Amino acid sequence: MSYLELQHVSVHYPVRNTWGTTGEFVRAVDDVSLSVEKGQILGLVGESGCGKSTLSRAIMQLQPITSGSICLQGENLSALPAREIRRRRLDFQMVFQDPYASLNPRFSIFATLAEALSRREKLPRRQREDAVAELMERVGLSPEHMYKYPHEFSGGQRQRIAIARAIAPRPALLLADEPVSALDVSIQSQILNLLTDLTRDLGLTMIFISHDLSVVHYLADHIAVMRRGQIVEYGTADSVFHHPQAEYTQNLLAAIPRLSD
Ligand SMILES: Nc1ncnc2c1ncn2[C@@H]1O[C@H](COP(=O)(O)OP(=O)(O)O)[C@@H](O)[C@H]1O
Ligand SMILES: [Mg+2]
Repeated sequence: MSYLELQHVSVHYPVRNTWGTTGEFVRAVDDVSLSVEKGQILGLVGESGCGKSTLSRAIMQLQPITSGSICLQGENLSALPAREIRRRRLDFQMVFQDPYASLNPRFSIFATLAEALSRREKLPRRQREDAVAELMERVGLSPEHMYKYPHEFSGGQRQRIAIARAIAPRPALLLADEPVSALDVSIQSQILNLLTDLTRDLGLTMIFISHDLSVVHYLADHIAVMRRGQIVEYGTADSVFHHPQAEYTQNLLAAIPRLSD
């Protein structure tokens, strides 16, 4: 069995109108089976609205699934009681598209990261500065800025802070949902390199989501292509990128702007 294994996972949202639910459902995730090996990066790619974020919330145990199973190291997470899920929550961390929205503007970077570090185990007060400094250096930020606030940083630096906060509790699984989509192209590859290095150095397993196949190809070991809630193609990153089988993947590739165009 793989490290992370999804079998026949579906998430259906009830359709609502002004008067309540209509009895119909949106099949946001529709019978998805996927596996990820420990230490690997799975790229999940597809157009907006295809169900990527819903699937990622399901894996993170933030969204109940309608059917199927999600197993981590052979243990069926979907069958665990809520209390057990809370206990394991630190093992699953996320990085989102908009670091400004996900960072508290009233907290200094020190406050945000010290809190994240002490979620796993309480840090004695006098060790906090050193631990925060080490964490900042790990994500390429200068510790001398630890008492600054989110608005004093650039978009790329804020995403580094969000990544530092995510790795602080030493998670096993990192899920990055469109982490570079809001950043300047010139900054994107720096953040992708940082995520790749951290995955390798910390022995993380990562699921990386993007609507852009070339971004996913840059760092993923395997790629799953999602369309209307379903996985329409899966393979090694190179085979999906260079020899796509599904017509849908071929269209996604054709839509990527190239320098020669
Ligand atoms: N909380 C929700 N309630 C009802 N429908 C939702 C909810 N979240 C997402 N959806 C719908 O589920 C589908 C998949 O959305 P989402 O997972 O956000 O896709 P993506 O991340 O690929 O853009 C969309 O049709 C979206 O409108
Ligand atoms: Mg999304």
